[in-house]
Amino acid sequence: MSERAILKIGDREIELSIVEGVEGDRAIDISKLRDLAGVIAYDPSLGNTAITKSAITFVDGENGILRYRGIPIEQFVEKPNFVEVAWLLIFGRLPTRQELARFSEKLTENELLHEGLRHQFQHIPVDAPPMAILSAMMNNLACFHQQLLSVEDVESLEAAAARLISKVRTIAAFSYRRSQGLPFIYPDPHLRYCANFLHMMFSLPYKQYIVTPEIEDALNLVFILHADHEQNCSTATVRTVGSARANLFASCAAGVCALWGPLHGGANVEVMNMLEAIHTGGMTAEECIRLAKDKSHPFRLYGFGHRIYKNYDPRAKMLREACERVFAKLQHQDPLLDIARKLEELALSDPYFIERKLYPNVDFYSGILLRAMGIPTNMFTVCFAIGRLPGWIAHWREQHEDPNSRIVRPRQVYVGPPKTDYVPLNERK
Ligand code: ACO
Repeated sequence: MSERAILKIGDREIELSIVEGVEGDRAIDISKLRDLAGVIAYDPSLGNTAITKSAITFVDGENGILRYRGIPIEQFVEKPNFVEVAWLLIFGRLPTRQELARFSEKLTENELLHEGLRHQFQHIPVDAPPMAILSAMMNNLACFHQQLLSVEDVESLEAAAARLISKVRTIAAFSYRRSQGLPFIYPDPHLRYCANFLHMMFSLPYKQYIVTPEIEDALNLVFILHADHEQNCSTATVRTVGSARANLFASCAAGVCALWGPLHGGANVEVMNMLEAIHTGGMTAEECIRLAKDKSHPFRLYGFGHRIYKNYDPRAKMLREACERVFAKLQHQDPLLDIARKLEELALSDPYFIERKLYPNVDFYSGILLRAMGIPTNMFTVCFAIGRLPGWIAHWREQHEDPNSRIVRPRQVYVGPPKTDYVPLNERK
C-alpha cells in the first residue's frame, strides 16, 4: 500500500494520500481536506503548495539543478538554439530535423505584424515602458487573429505558438524603435530567430546591422536560460488565467504583466541600476550590501535570492561564464562585470547572505550580457519575456489538455469585520 499521511485534528484522524514525483518530490494531497475535516490549508503566497503535476521542467533548488523535459540546461551551451528549445518545451521532446524546419518556417511566415497593429505603435507615447507595450500588444494579437482564440488540436496549437513566438520579437523590437524615434525595420526572412531580432532592433534603412556569431549565440543562450522555470510567478499567472479557459494570447499577456515586477523579471533592470549607481559613485559595493541587509529599508540586493534555489542558480553560473567567454572573444570590457563579481564576492562571504542561503539568480548577470549586445536596460525584462514565452505556452497547453484541470480558485481565511449593518449616509457621523 502506498504511503499515507495522518492529520490529527482534536480527536479525529484524517488519512491523506501522498503524491510522488519522478525525482523524489513528495506532496500531501489535501484537495479533499475541507470535505473530510472541515478545514482548509493556510499557505500564504503558496510557498509550500504544488498547484499541479507537471512534466515540463524539473528544478532542484537545494542542488542547483534545472532540466527542460529531463535535459540538463548545461547541455544547451554548445550551439544554443532557442527555437529548438521552444519546440522541446511545448511539444515534449526534441524536434526532428523536419519538425524544426517546419516550425522555423512557421515563425518566418508569422514575423510581420498586421498593419492595423503596427499603426497602434504611433499612438503610444515614446517614453512608454516597453513591458506595458508588450503586454498590450500581445493581448491585441487576439483582435487580429481571432481564428486562434480557440486551440483544440496540435495543429492549431502549433499555429498559435508560432504566431506568438514570432510576433513577440517583432513587437519587442518595434517598441524599442518607437522609443528611439527610429523607423521600424521589417523582419528579414533569411535571418535566424535571434539574428532577426537584433536586425529589427539595430539595422538602419541605409545600413544593415551585421550580427556576429558570438552575439547570436549569446542571445540564444539568454533566451534558452529564461525559457522555463516551472511554477514561477508569471507562469503561475498564465496557468491561473488559462484555467478560466482564457485564450493563449490573453493568458500570456497576463504573464508579461506579472513578469514586469521588480521581484520577478523586472529584477534584471534593478540589478543594472544598482551596478550603475556603484559605477558612477552613487554608492559603494559595501554600502549596497549594508543597505540590502537593513530591514528598515525596502532595498534588496537585486539578482540575489530565490524562492526555490538555496544554492547557486545554475542559470546565473552559466550567464557569468558566458559573459567571460563572450567578452574574451570580442575583446569587450565592461566595468559593471567587475562590480558584479565584487558584489557577489562580498555577499557570498557575508553571514547575512550565507545564513539565508542567498545566491545570485538568473537576473544577476543576464543584463551585463544583454548590455554587451547593445540592448538598453529598459528592454531587459522584455528580453526575459521573449525567452519565457515558450514556457508559458507549454504550461498553458499542459493545463488545457489536463482532463483534471479546474479553474484556479484559492481560498482565504477571512479576518475582516464581523457582520455589520449598513448605515445610511445621512446617519453617519
Ligand atoms: N537582498 C536582501 N535580503 C534578501 C534578499 C535580497 N535579494 N532576498 C531575500 N532576502 C532576505 C529576506 O529579507 C528574508 O530575510 P528574513 O528572513 O530576515 O526576513 C530572507 O532573505 C528570505 O527571503 P524571502 O523574502 O522570504 O524570500 P522569498 O522566497 O519570498 O523571495 C525573492 C524570493 C523575491 C526572489 C527575493 O529573494 C528577492 O526579493 N530577491 C531580489 C529580487 C530578485 O532578484 N528577483 C528575481 C528572482 S528570480 C526571477 O524571478 C526570475
